[in-house]
Amino acid sequence: MNTRFLDACWGKPVDRTPVWLMRQAGRYLPEYMAVRSKCTFLELCKTPELAAEVSIQPVDILGVDAAIMFSDILTPVEPMGMKLDFVPGPVFEHPIRSMADVDQLRIPEMEQDVPYVLETIKILRRELANKVPLIGFGGAPFTLACYMVEGKGSKDFAQIKRMMYSAPDVYAALMEKITMMDMEYLNAQIKAGAQAIQIFDTWGGILAPSDYETYVLPYTTKLINGLNRMETPVIHFVKGAGAMLDSVKKAGGDVMGLDWHVNLGTARDLLGQGMAVQGNLDPTVLYAPKEVIEAEVKRVLDENAGRSGHIFNLGHGILPTVPPENAIHMVECVHRLSQKAA
Ligand code: CP3
Repeated sequence: MNTRFLDACWGKPVDRTPVWLMRQAGRYLPEYMAVRSKCTFLELCKTPELAAEVSIQPVDILGVDAAIMFSDILTPVEPMGMKLDFVPGPVFEHPIRSMADVDQLRIPEMEQDVPYVLETIKILRRELANKVPLIGFGGAPFTLACYMVEGKGSKDFAQIKRMMYSAPDVYAALMEKITMMDMEYLNAQIKAGAQAIQIFDTWGGILAPSDYETYVLPYTTKLINGLNRMETPVIHFVKGAGAMLDSVKKAGGDVMGLDWHVNLGTARDLLGQGMAVQGNLDPTVLYAPKEVIEAEVKRVLDENAGRSGHIFNLGHGILPTVPPENAIHMVECVHRLSQKAA
């Protein structure tokens, strides 16, 4: 039984640094494309046997120390009453723009509305048989709100920011509702067998630090406080948070996800001893020659300087055009270079 990942989440010493990759189940793997070619992305998310199959692929192929269930952060938003499409990016037909829109949103009944997510987790726990732990996940309230209000990805996030500044009551009502949904969604995942939870706040870094404190932190804090997590560590990843890690820390997770814009050692000094970290190789390093990948892995491990409580990862998701053998090589380098002398 490989407990490296969970041990590192709790800051305990490990034999080698555990490693997994954000978005490790996905299009860079021909094995994923083979499954994906037979159905749409949403069908894949809603078919537990197939979702479990693609979640296990990177465990077998890359030799990573954790599996992450296959789904999307927007999966639980659809049963709130928002029709969702992937083209391939997410698109909501009717974005949220008014209090009436917010009032129409419902909080899903998880067992009835997203049974496939809970079933995927159960299948995965059975099939992984404790070989590696299983990570469940959700989007942070703010990142979910960004998609629900913009209706799709955005460059300037004008709609969500306009709502935040000029209709703060609508914004607050929306964030409250999403936070309640998220809490129930993640607790249902824990109950189904998820052994750690990662909260993805992909867009938290688009705000000024003071706005992050006002408009994002209260909701993420409430979410994390509301999780049944006696034995379930929470990884909080806010992309672009390098200049406000002190604020993000207040949300109360167990592990801070770091992107590559911060020096991992500097971030650890700032966060202090009680908090583990996850990260933070630039995902594009996986396009580099093997020796460059090795040197970059070594640099990140050196920045950590042997402290316990480090989970190696990329600073954001793996890109779809990365050669799988480079990802395999990265994992091998992490394990070899971090191995404690016997
Ligand atoms: O990490 C994993 O292996 C588990 C699966 C996973 C997916 N999405 C599958 C997916 C996870 C953890 C996510 C999280 C997610 N989804 C985030 C947060 C992480 C991040 O990358 O910032 C966000 C912002 C989304 C929303 C989303 N889903 C976008 C913007 C897109 C389109 C861009 C893209 O990467 O294609 C998706 C689609 C998506 N989610 C795919 C996969 C494998 C590609 C769909 C396909 O196969 O066609």
